Amino acid sequence: MKTPWILFFCSLLPGLGDTLNCSSPTPEALFDSLEKELFSKKLLRPVKSFSETLKVTLEAKLAGILGVNEKSQSLTTIIWLSQKWNIQGLSWDEKECGTSKVSISREKLWIPDISISEFMEEDKSPKTFYVHLNNHGQVTDDKPVRVDSFCKLDIYTFPFDIQNCTMTFGPYLHTGNAELTLQESREVLWTKGEWELKNIQVTASILEIPHGNYSEIKYYFILRRRPILYVVNLLLPSCFLITLDLFSFLLPPATTDRSAFKMTLILGYTVFLLIMNDLLPVTGHGTPLLNVFFSISLALMVASLLETIFITNIQFRSDNYVPVPHWLSVLVLRYLAAIVCLPRKRRSTRLTVSLSPEPKGMTCVFLVCLLMLAL
Ligand SMILES: *[C@@H]1O[C@H](CO)[C@@H](O)[C@H](O)[C@H]1NC(C)=O
Ligand SMILES: *[C@@H]1O[C@H](CO)[C@@H](O)[C@H](O)[C@H]1NC(C)=O
Ligand SMILES: *[C@@H]1O[C@H](CO)[C@@H](O)[C@H](O)[C@H]1NC(C)=O
Repeated sequence: MKTPWILFFCSLLPGLGDTLNCSSPTPEALFDSLEKELFSKKLLRPVKSFSETLKVTLEAKLAGILGVNEKSQSLTTIIWLSQKWNIQGLSWDEKECGTSKVSISREKLWIPDISISEFMEEDKSPKTFYVHLNNHGQVTDDKPVRVDSFCKLDIYTFPFDIQNCTMTFGPYLHTGNAELTLQESREVLWTKGEWELKNIQVTASILEIPHGNYSEIKYYFILRRRPILYVVNLLLPSCFLITLDLFSFLLPPATTDRSAFKMTLILGYTVFLLIMNDLLPVTGHGTPLLNVFFSISLALMVASLLETIFITNIQFRSDNYVPVPHWLSVLVLRYLAAIVCLPRKRRSTRLTVSLSPEPKGMTCVFLVCLLMLAL
């Protein structure tokens, strides 16, 4: 099993004692000798010589996603951070001292300073006060960390978006195994909220600065939004209203007031958008495709209302005009219709209707046609 580990090159004084000698197998005796051998040297990096590196094994499990804030571009997570390192030369005999593992106050020990670069707020993690120390000198420091980290969120495809959030732990060199972390993270994840953990990738990189090389390990948390809430609350109602608006053209215009119906729909849609505004993400840059969809929907509704107004206008205002002159109707229905290729059948029925049995009219039409030909 490989987990990322860190090498600390620190310029602290090295050197710690040998095997502990307990006078009796009681906590008092063990802590007396630990006091003498370990606690008094808590400022020292627990290695034998300056050049030696301290290997810290780091394991980060994503325990829960508390929230994603699109406005401040931040991600709030609980990470279960486990660090393990060895205090060189420290060991005791289990029988002699009576135990193989003790818990020790964090303040009494040298603790590696691993931090996350993307921290946005002060650390509001639940405090843990103890670490475990076993009789081979291995320290295990398990703690939950509440991370408010910066994450560039891309909301263009909202609510079907996938986010890629980075957490950089540093400084160190490491070898990492992403598969393993992924499995553990999936098992551990306890908030079954809006976000689902899809994948975790781990990469290492080296930061070269003049006085030394800092290696860092980057965790990429790939999160996918569960879109069902937004589909049910935003997309479906919107589609229903649009469908209703389209089908309202089936209403007979003479007997019902189509425009009032459409106006009510637009009003309803506006109220719906106002209420649902809170559900839509807001960022400084970029607009979700969904907002464009809503705008187009509203535009379609307004267009259909305008069309209805236009149709109603034509329908009712036509009564106020003088009837169409006979020659014009013949010209339009017979000749122009042929020019613009209107179906034959329609033309013939119209012809029989418009050419009522009046020979006078026929001659008139002939005259007009001749006139037109002459011109
Ligand atoms: C513990 O006792 C052994 C011999 O019994 C001795 O060699 C060693 O130095 C002692 N260790 C400490 C830390 O006093
Ligand atoms: C997440 O981002 C990092 C760096 O920007 C990239 O290397 C990685 O492939 C991305 N992962 C996915 C799944 O897009
Ligand atoms: C940093 O790493 C580079 C190679 O990547 C190496 O040449 C250089 O000596 C290192 N610097 C220190 C201070 O270790």
